[in-house]
Amino acid sequence: MHKKIEKHQFEYFTSTNLNDFSAEEQQLISETINKANSAYAPYSNFNVSSGILLDDNTILSATNVENASYPVGICAERNVLSYCMSNFPKHIIKTIAVYAEKKIEKLILPITPCGMCRQALLEVENRQEKPIKLIMIGHNNQFLVVEKCVHLLPFAFDGSVL
Ligand code: THU
Repeated sequence: MHKKIEKHQFEYFTSTNLNDFSAEEQQLISETINKANSAYAPYSNFNVSSGILLDDNTILSATNVENASYPVGICAERNVLSYCMSNFPKHIIKTIAVYAEKKIEKLILPITPCGMCRQALLEVENRQEKPIKLIMIGHNNQFLVVEKCVHLLPFAFDGSVL
């Protein structure tokens, strides 16, 4: 028996140009950025917003919502995903965007979803059997994009083994 080294690769792209996105995605990006103002993040001062573009071009958005009992807080991505799955269960999610800003200083780089949110994104992507494009938005039109959320979670645990 020999040890075999394997490699995992995934594709992503970076961009600093809004024109690399469709008109609907540009609208999603704009609404997601604006939503960060509504974040309830008095403990971390880290405002996060997340927006969803559905197959009929409906846009949904939500923020992180924190709590004095810290673990009760929820991330923006899972917040908008839960709203979407509860209210638009028959729709396909085409794209999800995420954006963050610190209250005191501007963040420069796009944020990437936390591990728990990656797991939640994968569940929805598996359920709808269509890839969800993820746009991570930084300041001054700095974008980081993956075409499928599964790229963010190699060796993911999913329902197929249950
Ligand atoms: N947060 C999100 O909303 N999404 C992420 O992907 C990373 C973290 C929130 C959770 C908490 O309210 C704050 O950012 C600081 O961790």
